[in-house]
Amino acid sequence: MSLVLALIAIVVSLVLFAARRRHGYWQRRGIPHDVPHPLFGNIGDWPKKRQIAVIFSDYYRKYKSANYPFAGFYFFFTRTAVVTDLDLVKRVLIKDFNHFENRGIFYNEIDDPLSATVFSIEGQKWRHLRHKLTPTFTSGKMKHMFPIVVKVGEEMDKVFSNKVGDEKVLEIVDLVARYTADVIGNCAFGLNCNSQQNPNADFVSFGKRALSERRYKGLLDFIIFGFPKLSRSLRLKLNVQEVEDFYTKIVRDTIDYRLKTKEKRNDFMDSLIEMYQKEQEGNSDEGLTFNEILAQAFIFFVAGFETSSTTMGFALYELAQNQDTQDKLRKEINDVLAKHNNQFTYEGIKEMKYLEQVVMETLRKYPALAHLTRKTQLDFSPEDPKNFISKGTTVVIPALGIHYDPDIYPEPEKFKPERFTEEAIASRPACAWLPFGEGPRNCIGLRFGIMQTCVGLAYLIKGYRFSVAPETQIPIKFVLKSFLLSAENGIYLKVETVSK
Ligand code: HEM
Repeated sequence: MSLVLALIAIVVSLVLFAARRRHGYWQRRGIPHDVPHPLFGNIGDWPKKRQIAVIFSDYYRKYKSANYPFAGFYFFFTRTAVVTDLDLVKRVLIKDFNHFENRGIFYNEIDDPLSATVFSIEGQKWRHLRHKLTPTFTSGKMKHMFPIVVKVGEEMDKVFSNKVGDEKVLEIVDLVARYTADVIGNCAFGLNCNSQQNPNADFVSFGKRALSERRYKGLLDFIIFGFPKLSRSLRLKLNVQEVEDFYTKIVRDTIDYRLKTKEKRNDFMDSLIEMYQKEQEGNSDEGLTFNEILAQAFIFFVAGFETSSTTMGFALYELAQNQDTQDKLRKEINDVLAKHNNQFTYEGIKEMKYLEQVVMETLRKYPALAHLTRKTQLDFSPEDPKNFISKGTTVVIPALGIHYDPDIYPEPEKFKPERFTEEAIASRPACAWLPFGEGPRNCIGLRFGIMQTCVGLAYLIKGYRFSVAPETQIPIKFVLKSFLLSAENGIYLKVETVSK
């Protein structure tokens, strides 16, 4: 008995010693950092008190003026460098990308095919997949998908007009989320999921579950997020079985249907099916297997649906508080539409420069994914101790902190689309605006995200006036436990039809 107790005491002491040693890393290197909590490291406020990007943003503000280009941080026990200098941001994301190619997050292509997305996979496999998927997102492909987006925009207009009547207070995030779900459902899965007419459409409820529900009821999140490689060896999975079954069936049925009927819709699914056919013909250099297609269709939906809908919601929230900006935008939309026979055209949307500035400023204040992560493959800059980041360190770029830095954006709380004229952009340093990340691993769906956001906003601002209601929450509070920035209680605004 006493031998067992002695053994337990030795194991506990070893674990405590290893933990303390891990938490002593930044101190040993003399890098500025907050004192870590013995269990949670520096992440103790999450998810109860602060949203994760807000924690990194506060850290950026605190350590920006320290004498180092980054500050030390512990994500539980994971050694993390929070970058506080834009030159180093540029090196990590662009110039020295070969050191920082991966995100170091969980995926398990064998047991959990849905998790092996272009967002999560690593190294040579990621490079190949990204290369194969890039042609799916060219401006030519966007142009082909534009009519689908416009059709769904028209439906959203009808839904709003049925709801509004003369004047009403509406929760708008849910309404615009149904628009983006329909757009991506159409383009990535080839489905008329019709969530605008039918709010309980399976497609959207499974999409929401994919974002919010965790396998094992979240109890193993600590291992999955903290030790992705170990989790893979333990054959853990991230996605809930029902979600996996639902999306697998949709993709299987869609492929079978399109191959049988030879139907072409010029959407993401067509591009993915072309790659599937190449694989079937033995051309695996350019082809994709069924499981690879499945994972990519899934990530297009997950990465493209909520990011764009929250952007639309926050844009309307700001426009409701800035009526002059809203009027100026409405005038631009009407003027451009008048030049294009009152039709929504791809070229017309591109001509709406002020609309683009409104979206860019919205994404500055509310970048959906407000912190970027990379993991070092190789020791970075060993010759220069100030910049040295050792192999295996997680690197965080605190996009939210940079976007609210008054030295880069004076009066950062104010909503000013004029910050995004060509001249104003040129006057700022590189990597000062990061809602889509930067460099070879930036957002592959950037063009599509901007297109669907702009089309949706153009429909809404043309037809309706948005203003603040007693129910509008000012200042906004973010959902604390979500990785994406979203409004805690939705966004309530007064909505009136604009007289024609
Ligand atoms: C307003 C809308 C969107 C925002 C704000 C957004 C934001 C982001 C951000 C911040 C990243 C990480 C970039 C980095 O680490 O440097 C990312 C990656 C990604 N996004 Fe988006 N996104 C949007 C729309 C979309 C859409 C519509 C799609 C697909 C149809 C998409 C697919 C992806 C994918 C696949 C990646 C991973 C790319 C890779 O690792 O190679 N996103 N997005």
